[in-house]
Amino acid sequence: MSIVAHGKQRAADWDAFSANYHAESVTPFSDGVRFRLRSDLRRLMRQWQADDRRSDHVFVDFGCGPGDALELVAGKVPLSVGIDFSPKMLSLAAERLRRRGVPSERLNSKQGLDRICADDRRGRAVNEAPQTLLVQADLRKLRRIRGCVDAATSINSICASNTCDASQMFREMARSIRPGGVFFIVWPALESLEYLFELDRRAGRPPEERNEILGSDGVNVDASGYALKLFRADEIRALCGDVSMVVETIEKLSYPWTYMNELGWGYYPGRPRLWDWYVIAQMA
Ligand SMILES: C[S@@+](CC[C@H](N)C(=O)[O-])C[C@H]1O[C@@H](n2cnc3c(N)ncnc32)[C@H](O)[C@@H]1O
Repeated sequence: MSIVAHGKQRAADWDAFSANYHAESVTPFSDGVRFRLRSDLRRLMRQWQADDRRSDHVFVDFGCGPGDALELVAGKVPLSVGIDFSPKMLSLAAERLRRRGVPSERLNSKQGLDRICADDRRGRAVNEAPQTLLVQADLRKLRRIRGCVDAATSINSICASNTCDASQMFREMARSIRPGGVFFIVWPALESLEYLFELDRRAGRPPEERNEILGSDGVNVDASGYALKLFRADEIRALCGDVSMVVETIEKLSYPWTYMNELGWGYYPGRPRLWDWYVIAQMA
């Protein structure tokens, strides 16, 4: 059987997926996953609060989806922004913030990206209310905000069906970060998928059950035809180096087998877990 490869390259694909997002996708925000991002962001916010030279810090959650990462920062720093091209994902993020009592403003790409770089925050008083924006924009087109962001997250949002698009998304996001700024990134790990295939093979699980095609480029096509570019640790280091980012941390963010089992990935308790790559990189 030949399958037609497709990726979630369009906002409409993510709109369609948004309602089932938490039930169907592997997310480090799920209960039972130990994800250090929460404490890393708390530490960052303490540093910003202690910095009496600046009161205009900008945080961006790239590919914010339903806002799990944005929620950790929104309302606590001068400007926090969720960027996503899916209107339905942005609505979920707005609703999540609203439930937390954090007001947010919805903007289109031009208005939103211009606000991120606006000079009028420079003389901002320390006691001014924090602002939170939800911006509908494409991560492949972020030229307007080059060097304007102090810290950012990209949690599994580099989801492209080919290497070219994936690299472009990463470069655009990284170049938005100012020198000294920090980027917290979760990348889908190619080594983890290869390890899963090996566990399947040893367990005698037939390969056609997954229907994977793992090209040399690291693009996986699953049984439904969904194509996703995954990354090796070495490739991540090289991509960061290309944009003058220094990798401070690269470590496994591992997922419990019970969780993998619920999502149909496999169940090999007692064996090392599957993982994504968690990276902290600083702009030189
Ligand atoms: C796997 S979800 C991750 C959502 C969120 N970061 C989280 O961890 O829950 C990927 C998100 O990236 C967004 N996305 C994918 N490609 C995009 C692009 N080219 N421009 C803007 N957003 C994009 C999708 O709409 C989706 O909300």
